[in-house]
Amino acid sequence: MALQFNKYILQMKPSASMETMAKAKKLKAQDPEIIDLAGGEPDFDTPKKICDELFRQINAGFTHYTVGPGLPELRQRIADKLERENGCHYDPSGVVVTPGGKYAIYIAVRALVNAGDEVMYLTPGWVSYPSIIQASGGVPVEVDLAYEDRYRITLELLEEKVSAKTRMLIINYPNNPTGRVLTQKEAQVLRQFMLNHPDLVLLSDEMYERILFDGQENVSPASFPDIADRVITVNGFSKSVAMTGWRIGYLAADTKIASMAAMLFSHTISCTSGFIQKAAAVAFDCGEEIEEMRRRYQQRRDLFVNGLNQIPGVHCEMPEGAFYAWTNFEIPGMDSNQVCEFIMEKAKVVGVPGVSYGDKTGSRIRFSFAAADDQLAQAVKNIAAAMAQIGEKV
Ligand SMILES: Cc1ncc(COP(=O)(O)O)c(C=O)c1O
Repeated sequence: MALQFNKYILQMKPSASMETMAKAKKLKAQDPEIIDLAGGEPDFDTPKKICDELFRQINAGFTHYTVGPGLPELRQRIADKLERENGCHYDPSGVVVTPGGKYAIYIAVRALVNAGDEVMYLTPGWVSYPSIIQASGGVPVEVDLAYEDRYRITLELLEEKVSAKTRMLIINYPNNPTGRVLTQKEAQVLRQFMLNHPDLVLLSDEMYERILFDGQENVSPASFPDIADRVITVNGFSKSVAMTGWRIGYLAADTKIASMAAMLFSHTISCTSGFIQKAAAVAFDCGEEIEEMRRRYQQRRDLFVNGLNQIPGVHCEMPEGAFYAWTNFEIPGMDSNQVCEFIMEKAKVVGVPGVSYGDKTGSRIRFSFAAADDQLAQAVKNIAAAMAQIGEKV
């Protein structure tokens, strides 16, 4: 039988971070000394209050379908949060609660993109954007930000890539993998770009919004009233509340856009689990727990990144948010895949190669510092020893 597959899905590449996570788990099962810094996954437990509410809801029998794109009280709390903390005004009926932020991005893109439409996204950037764009028959258009310019967004870079076919621009701050936070100046550049192109939609993925260091602040583009009706904000509970396995996130958008996305949602997912939604609402009462995790990430960042920067041939800019160390290795003749293999073999530390994030310029690896302090300290030691071997050879 000659199987025929969907031509858009055939274009996709497997998720590099998921593949590397699976590989790291397999390696660790064979060798306990392997240090897995590949995943984008908090190592903290979900706050107890949230877990308690989940069991309470299940025991009370709240285990059936829930109708529509989210429980009304959760959509209200999300809209209130976006207003209070992000200065974004969304009607609660413009909120769609999804199984993870990833699915929110998927339905938003599907709701707006037709085959052949172009969707711009910034690189280095999250591995799933191009595949999600391709699933709609869209054409991913990379806007390469320059390492030498600290990955600054400029109007020139954006204008260079826009065309009559462009429907959407996707951004992500705090950024996975670079750890950069959007500055007020860059937010104004984005605003100007959106004003220059009145038919464009901006999708702002703010998944790491609560993980900010040294007093940095997040800027939400939907807080600009003159573009707000064309800005979709995506966020969730996975990273900031350590709820990756719960699969819950959301999008907030103008009600016309949200109802289109909700149409697809209703036919593909029906609803996000009701008891998970009830429990997730408790996350809005977990300010202290979230702040404690943020504080610990900052300490780990300092430990890990300062350690890496003492190793000859290794450099990492101090991340301003999220929990990734975007690390450059100067090893002559090796690209990021080869560097990753080398570090895995010689240092027993697993990261994700920079090329997976669209990085074209260096030999970078993304390491997660959402790991225990002793693991991070050991990783630095092992990497230093591996790099010393290279030094001896040169
Ligand atoms: C930038 C970014 N956006 C969205 C997501 C999706 O998160 P989730 O689907 O777990 O809510 C991730 C997860 O790795 C991410 O790194």
